Amino acid sequence: MNLIKTFGVFASLLTLCVDSLNILCILPYEGKSHFFVFKTFLLELERRGHNLTVISHFPEKSPPANYHDISLAGTSDIFEDAMPLKRNYWTLISTGLFLSWTGTANCDAMLQNKRVQGLVKNKQKFDVALVELFNSDCGLGLAYKLGAPVVSITTHILMPWHYKRFGIPDNPSYVPYHFLEGGSKPTLYQKIERIVFDVYVQTLYYYWTQRNNQNSIARYIGEVPPLEELGRQAKFVLLYHNFVLTGSRLFPANVIEVGGYHVGKAKPLTGALKDFVANAEHGVVYISFGSVVKSSTLSAEKLEAILAALDEFPQKFVWKWENETQLEGRKNLYVSSWLPQIDILAHPKTVAFFSHSGMLSTTEAIHFGVPMVAMPVLGDQPANAASIEECGLGVQIQYRELTKDSLVAALKKVLDPEYRQQVKALSKTWHDRPMSPMDAAVFWTEFAARHPNSTFRTAAADVWFYEYMYLDVLSVFVVLFSVIVWLVRLACCRARKQDVKKPKAKAKPKRH
Ligand SMILES: *[C@@H]1O[C@H](CO)[C@@H](O)[C@H](O)[C@H]1NC(C)=O
Ligand SMILES: *[C@@H]1O[C@H](CO)[C@@H](O)[C@H](O)[C@H]1NC(C)=O
Ligand SMILES: *[C@@H]1O[C@H](CO)[C@@H](O)[C@H](O)[C@H]1NC(C)=O
Repeated sequence: MNLIKTFGVFASLLTLCVDSLNILCILPYEGKSHFFVFKTFLLELERRGHNLTVISHFPEKSPPANYHDISLAGTSDIFEDAMPLKRNYWTLISTGLFLSWTGTANCDAMLQNKRVQGLVKNKQKFDVALVELFNSDCGLGLAYKLGAPVVSITTHILMPWHYKRFGIPDNPSYVPYHFLEGGSKPTLYQKIERIVFDVYVQTLYYYWTQRNNQNSIARYIGEVPPLEELGRQAKFVLLYHNFVLTGSRLFPANVIEVGGYHVGKAKPLTGALKDFVANAEHGVVYISFGSVVKSSTLSAEKLEAILAALDEFPQKFVWKWENETQLEGRKNLYVSSWLPQIDILAHPKTVAFFSHSGMLSTTEAIHFGVPMVAMPVLGDQPANAASIEECGLGVQIQYRELTKDSLVAALKKVLDPEYRQQVKALSKTWHDRPMSPMDAAVFWTEFAARHPNSTFRTAAADVWFYEYMYLDVLSVFVVLFSVIVWLVRLACCRARKQDVKKPKAKAKPKRH
């Protein structure tokens, strides 16, 4: 028995050594929440014996032995508590500009880094590159220069400009749109909204961000093929969601859902928060609008509405809010600018979550089976909020509709014991998988390194737009049909002319 065990340990050690991969992680985006997800994955890859080189704004304070940072820290502001808590068309327009601007700037910041340039100069060998798929394709150029197969990683649903390159349908009639409401059942108005906004963000992406990225790459590390082409050559896309939450979507075989891997083990609450929650006889509702939005920018009127709504409930509320003095002196509120979200959501007394429905918060809520009231602000949040409602994890409420009454109604609905039972069942479904999301993410990364010459891109990504929409076939039919119509009309005309001529033609009996 012992011998078998020893052999087992030895064998697994052996595979660890044999399969140790050199992995380059290219994460130039300065958003803390994105890195928060990736970090779990990268540390796990290291733990499983791989050698990691991580380009990011967030160097590890005490990195494990085979985790090597190339730090971009200090080259730009970290994106946290940066956006106002409100939503309108202007928020959308400025989001588009923000994404293009940062996608351009963080590419330059990365390529100007001497150690990044050193990787190219020394032709350092990597078995696989993990490249964030978000608002820049800069990392694809770097991976190409190093000859590494690419696995694209995300922390959210696809950005609008990513569907085409992987051949994924983005039909506005049923594919939820990242930035806008409507989910998988949009109204006609919402579909029109999607098309108009899509033209706006895609134009910005291709003609501003991607073009600048291409030029920056040429300037700092040399010419590479068109970035869009390099994007299409990615081996796999690891999408950070799962159909239990986001619904059945149409993905090719190289697009893998790995949503959920970042949620770690919850710890018991401590200190004043622990006492506050323990004394909540009817449970607590957790409120947070995430790390990107500064919640204390909420207008006085909306804040008043929320506070009035909260007073209608016997539950207590734990609220992530930056300006604690603003909410001081309320017995039913525990306010702090920083809260251990996972530990709160995991607590048995937590009965609901009023949230901006960012993908991480939503993932954590479904993980622990906490019903949500989702009030989306920016990014993919409108799409997530729609998914939350469609899958039964919670209800959504739009910022413009936020009043005392609408919030009371929403909270009442999710606080219903039957509703909470249903969400607990949904959470069980979420966890029931053939392979944990972390194992899946690791597996496909290693797979890409083992088979660098294989590509499993769908043919849909390789056909021209007119072929994809079969406009070529359609035009052949249109031409054929026109010719037939023309011939028939010609024949008819001739026949009619001859009919008209007939009486006069009596003199000429030999007509045919
Ligand atoms: C691991 O990565 C570091 C940093 O890129 C590199 O210096 C080192 O040579 C790598 N180790 C192996 C065994 O390849
Ligand atoms: C916090 O709120 C109080 C009361 O509304 C206000 O006087 C103060 O300026 C705010 N502080 C910050 C840092 O916003
Ligand atoms: C991939 O293709 C290259 C070039 O054709 C070849 O040298 C290499 O051995 C191939 N790798 C694998 C794992 O088949």
